[in-house]
Amino acid sequence: MPQQRKSMHGEWSSRWAFILAATGSAVGLGNIWKFPYITGENGGGAFVLVYLACIAIVGIPIMMAEVMLGRRGRHSPINTMRLLAQESGRSPAWQLLGWGGVLAGFIILSFYSVIAGWALAYVLEAASGAFVGGEADRIGALFGGLLGNPVTLISWHTIFMAMTVFVVARGVEKGLERAVRVLMPALFALLLLLVGYAMNSGYFTDGLAFLFKPDFSKISAEGVLIALGHAFFTLSLGMGAIMVYGAYLPQKASIATTTVTIAAADTLVALLAGMAIFPIVFANGLEPGAGPGLIFQTLPIAFGQMPGGLLFGTLFFVLLSFAAWTSGISLLEPAVAWLVENRGLSRVVATVGCGGIIWLLGLASALSFNIWSDFTLFGKTIFDNLDFLASNIMLPLGGLLIALFAAWLLPRAISHDELAMREEGTYALWLFMVRYITPVGVSLVFLNAIGLI
Ligand code: TRP
Repeated sequence: MPQQRKSMHGEWSSRWAFILAATGSAVGLGNIWKFPYITGENGGGAFVLVYLACIAIVGIPIMMAEVMLGRRGRHSPINTMRLLAQESGRSPAWQLLGWGGVLAGFIILSFYSVIAGWALAYVLEAASGAFVGGEADRIGALFGGLLGNPVTLISWHTIFMAMTVFVVARGVEKGLERAVRVLMPALFALLLLLVGYAMNSGYFTDGLAFLFKPDFSKISAEGVLIALGHAFFTLSLGMGAIMVYGAYLPQKASIATTTVTIAAADTLVALLAGMAIFPIVFANGLEPGAGPGLIFQTLPIAFGQMPGGLLFGTLFFVLLSFAAWTSGISLLEPAVAWLVENRGLSRVVATVGCGGIIWLLGLASALSFNIWSDFTLFGKTIFDNLDFLASNIMLPLGGLLIALFAAWLLPRAISHDELAMREEGTYALWLFMVRYITPVGVSLVFLNAIGLI
């Protein structure tokens, strides 16, 4: 077997640094903004159950595969796939998987940055006392006012993209580690505080019932596809973000343990967010299916009413913006790593170039919340279409190909060696999952959603 490679982009200082960075990538708007609103739109409990099943059956095995391929290849996902295909005697066309990932990353970051801009805008709103009192209609009007103003939305989108470009241009391993170590636990503590508030809202059991009592008549085939797509989205899978972070993982770190830790932390944050939000929704007579604005219309009510809400609310939106930031950089890194490797560009030039393209694409999403809101395709706005295409089609498809490559084409000696499981049985289980269960599961959901079965 060829000797192990080294990454030209550097390496994490330890296994913990990788766990922090990958958790920083996984935990973001997907957990706190997207999970509650799509759960609300898809009827609650049954959707949550399907989502949890997707994390366990599809997400964790694919995450292990992605980290494993990344560490073996030690390059950007495009080059990693090219090198590993070569090493396995397969077609160089496998590098297209890396290209698809770059495209998916661009699309996701373009709208992600717009939503992260809302979080940034809410830092100022919270700090200026705009939530005090917390009347539901006033909070709703405040959010409507933000969405209706394209200049404000684009300004915040620009600021978020600039922040993201700044970190990626410096190299992701610098600075990130220290920040994640402090701010993630703080975000977690604030979520617990919000759940505490929700417990006293008088509607906590209604919220829990909505989240955890499955009613399968409420979920459609499209809902199942959205749950699957979200398992990829929330764990940052299917486009090479985790693969490129894996490329910087020290050789001796255990992939299985780190993966399970990251997936567990990510799931916990999403469930806590749901437990905080739905009781507030029901206590204030709001609509669970209100859409992308859900957390921006509910959490300010809680902050507006609780003692110390000015401070906690400000802090919460600071931390949410930060969580979005550590996710955004992982969406950009695969493309930048490739440009540095193959085009000899400096990191700064590569990052600014990619950032500019993504910023431009983001304008379409920003405008789809106001002046272009009537422009729809398949009954969805531009934002909804970009999200659906990238999250529910491109990510699962990318994940499917990653699973097929890792399980069927990569020589078993390599995956066995990289995963280095303590128990043989664990390796056999992983192999069985990525060979059969994961591909069949993803394919069934796809076929079902397009009406073929
Ligand atoms: N997982 C992040 C979140 O939940 C978003 C994200 C970061 C992502 N990197 C990704 C999604 C790569 C898909 C692919 O907010």
